[in-house]
Amino acid sequence: MVILQVENLSKKYGNFLALENASFEVKEGSVHALCGENGAGKSTLIKMLSGAIVPTSGRFVIDGVESTGMTPREAMNHGIRAIYQEFSLVPFLTVAENIFYGREPTRAGFCDFGKMKDDARALCREMGVEIDPGARVETLGVAQQQIVEILKAVSSKARLLIMDEPTASLTVGETQVFYDIVRRLQAAGTAIIYISHRLEEVFSLCDEVSVLCDGRMTATRPVEDVTRRELISLMVGRDLVESYPESSTAPGAEVLRVSNLENDRLHDVSFALHAGEILGFGGLIGAGRTELAMALMGELKIDGGTVLLRGADYRPRSSRYALTRGIGLIPEDRKHQGVVMSLSVKRNVSLGILDKLSNAAGILSRAREDEYYDKYATELAIKTATPNNLVSTLSGGNQQKVVVAKVLARDCEVIIFDEPTRGIDVGAKHEIYGLMRELADQGKAIILISSDMPELLGMSDRIAVMSAGYLVADLGRGEADQATILELASTKLAMEEGMQ
Ligand SMILES: Nc1ncnc2c1ncn2[C@@H]1O[C@H](COP(=O)(O)OP(=O)(O)OP(=O)(O)O)[C@@H](O)[C@H]1O
Ligand SMILES: [Mg+2]
Repeated sequence: MVILQVENLSKKYGNFLALENASFEVKEGSVHALCGENGAGKSTLIKMLSGAIVPTSGRFVIDGVESTGMTPREAMNHGIRAIYQEFSLVPFLTVAENIFYGREPTRAGFCDFGKMKDDARALCREMGVEIDPGARVETLGVAQQQIVEILKAVSSKARLLIMDEPTASLTVGETQVFYDIVRRLQAAGTAIIYISHRLEEVFSLCDEVSVLCDGRMTATRPVEDVTRRELISLMVGRDLVESYPESSTAPGAEVLRVSNLENDRLHDVSFALHAGEILGFGGLIGAGRTELAMALMGELKIDGGTVLLRGADYRPRSSRYALTRGIGLIPEDRKHQGVVMSLSVKRNVSLGILDKLSNAAGILSRAREDEYYDKYATELAIKTATPNNLVSTLSGGNQQKVVVAKVLARDCEVIIFDEPTRGIDVGAKHEIYGLMRELADQGKAIILISSDMPELLGMSDRIAVMSAGYLVADLGRGEADQATILELASTKLAMEEGMQ
């Protein structure tokens, strides 16, 4: 049975047509994938269904009810639930309070906290999830927060559940938990629209796939009728060879030496990084990889151990200081650390180099700023209506490209990429891979933190594995495979459990 029927839905932002005459259907109990490059119009489409934005023209029919645009409340009442790319949780409330936010159970006119917690616990059990309903959301990691978002969406009966890149911040183990949830919902008859840049998910989880290319829906097919290669070419409009760029230089001199680094989260971490190499960091979420990056950037205090940068003592005090010494970070959390939402796309790119673009009197040269912007925007194919638009109007993946451009413009000697391709489409992913390798070949030293196994294995010259704050292995290219890394990643956890 068809639950959702979309007919000629369009959305214009000013003169810019973000979505043009999209039509497709979603059936009960089916998982319908929505694929397309960054900026193709995926989020725009689903936001019209959930009532977050108003369509410019067209209509959709949900469960027999026709609409040319709903308010969020109406969409809710018709059983439409959406999980967006950006989190919508209230950090200082508990898991239970977030799940039932706006629909709290009451007794005699007051919120019944006891029942709310019990309901949340029952829901967790039903979905096979282990999260404390009484924990405050801000104390949870990104992955667990994502699970809470999902629980919130499914806590009241959903007819149509829309998920915009739900697994972008999950690692292999958590993704399995999430897949189980999707299958349970599917079995219960919920229709699901699923947006993902991870193509393996489309093939393992979805029944049908619709492809958006530059705002137009170019195909809708049963997943079993399409190959990975066809799907990619439908999305990017050309054939794309999926391979990782080979290194063309041998590693050079040692650039960074970290010895016995200690703080609350890191224990006795030691490694060396050379010019011209990409050192991958594997591990589960919470293993300390981001903390290590933050420590090197001077954003987390270091209690013990030493860091040598080109043989000289390096004691980072702030990320500004790290940048002046030539260490740059492309952070995992682009929304809070990467871009300034209230500034233009162009200014976000030039933000770190305003000094370089100004004359002795401190006056900014607009021409030089444009020149820099054009160089990186072209190299990374940043898609924006104009460079003067606010960065907040860019699609998720294009915001990530802006962060990459900003750090590249600083011309650092050591560049740390923390989950650099999260939320980025296949085409742009390969551009970023090409760029990372090019930087390494130019003699830069690169650290790649990634939870995407194929990417970690494909891009790294060596792979360091972290577990519970320890660096437990340093593997050469030939020694690493997915099973080995996953096993090493849980060594310290297994030991800790054994001790209890
Ligand atoms: N408020 C807005 N004002 C102007 N343009 C916008 C606005 N919101 C989105 N756009 C533009 O509409 C286009 C489609 O954006 P959308 O967010 O739907 O892309 P997407 O397919 O979800 O991409 P991603 O995979 O990167 O999340 C983009 O070019 C984007 O810059
Ligand atoms: Mg999007």
